[in-house]
Amino acid sequence: MSQARQPSPDAAPVVVRFAGIRDVEAKVGTSILEAALANGVELDHACGGVCACSTCHVKVLAGAEVLSEMSDDEADQLDEARDVGLDSRLGCQARILRVPQGGRVEVAIPRWNVNLVREAHD
Ligand code: FES
Repeated sequence: MSQARQPSPDAAPVVVRFAGIRDVEAKVGTSILEAALANGVELDHACGGVCACSTCHVKVLAGAEVLSEMSDDEADQLDEARDVGLDSRLGCQARILRVPQGGRVEVAIPRWNVNLVREAHD
């Protein structure tokens, strides 16, 4: 007897809210940077997402518990970033591992970084 296939709860899209910018949908396994770039949210990524800069710095406002753990390399890179706090992550390294309670992860791109991105692309 075959079992009916139930969709995994992790198959549901996760809403990633870029505070003050827009909400986007991302699959589990996606990094915050990938979610941004796939949806037209400009998040700087000078090294191309290989943890060799700190330009993809974001502040995690909600859903931090479903993101991948910070590696030593990420922590070292964040030491070089401006305005670092306990909620800071590198967008290219913070990967969504499961659907959060409420279905949403929220991040803020630091204001100085938004300004830098806008100046670079205007
Ligand atoms: S893009 Fe360089 S560390 Fe994330």
